[in-house]
Amino acid sequence: MTTIPATKRDLRTSADLSADDAAEILSIARTLKRDLKAGGNEPLLKGKSLAMVFEKPSLRTRCTFELGMVQLGGHAVYLPPNEIGLGKRESVADVAHCLERWFDMIMARTFSQKTVDELARHCKLPVINALSDYEHPCQALADYLKLTEHAGDLRGYNLTYIGDGNNICHSLMHIGVMLGMNITVSTPAGFEPAKSAVEATLQAASAGGGSYTYERDPRAAVRNAQAIYTDVWASMGQEHEAAEREKIFAGYMVNAELVAHAPKGAFIMHDLPAHRGSEIAADVIDGPNSIIFDEAENRLHAQKAVMVFLDRASQ
Ligand code: CP
Ligand code: NVA
Repeated sequence: MTTIPATKRDLRTSADLSADDAAEILSIARTLKRDLKAGGNEPLLKGKSLAMVFEKPSLRTRCTFELGMVQLGGHAVYLPPNEIGLGKRESVADVAHCLERWFDMIMARTFSQKTVDELARHCKLPVINALSDYEHPCQALADYLKLTEHAGDLRGYNLTYIGDGNNICHSLMHIGVMLGMNITVSTPAGFEPAKSAVEATLQAASAGGGSYTYERDPRAAVRNAQAIYTDVWASMGQEHEAAEREKIFAGYMVNAELVAHAPKGAFIMHDLPAHRGSEIAADVIDGPNSIIFDEAENRLHAQKAVMVFLDRASQ
């Protein structure tokens, strides 16, 4: 039986985290990863249950949340696309009111950020954004967990994002500057990050000591990059724009020619799924500087840390 917390914390967007929260999640994640590799985790979420609401497909998010919950002593129930019919079969509020009677935590992958916000508003349980059209904070936390494993403190670390100013870009920007990183974004005209995300990022940068720079020219954008990050040009729900976007984004492919403008050894990053030959060349994604599958691995550890963090904060 679920216990409804007196106070709860959500992870709807990066704005739900302070710089200290982000650092704490990464620290919990490092401990959980170390313990898992040393034989197993303490059952920190013993008997707890997670509802996994998906309006879109997933490999990484679904597997890592479900496995993560099991490794921490809890269990998860997968609710696939078309199962619930959020806002269609019944209202988001009614779904939230039902889920809170059975579960301890909810993660939701939705088309609209508004749906995640509405779930959180109508539900007394912690709600985690597992990708919306606006953000993918769990991905950014996993990515930065990977970079801390190489660089330790990320203050002053230079990451350049190339491509669409989308959900991934928004979370990387915001959490990156919170951690004191220098984030550079390069997109074609008309595909810049949302104004609201830039504003939130600049605000977090002034508090966290990081910086945000926009640079239209991808070659100039990677000049000081220690890590180069890209994502699909057409996100889930934008498939009908894919052909048109292929033409618009052509100069923004992360290929050997672009990487040659970056410092030697710059890491190559991608949240996956990737389209080899579109946003990233096959020899780059499979090359020696790619840390793409390490990022995917770290989804497990980072999300376990998010769940432990929200559970503790919501007692
Ligand atoms: N990166 C990511 O979220 O992957 P999935 O869409 O497979 O969950
Ligand atoms: N921007 C991509 C990320 C997938 C994990 C999408 O929204 O489809």
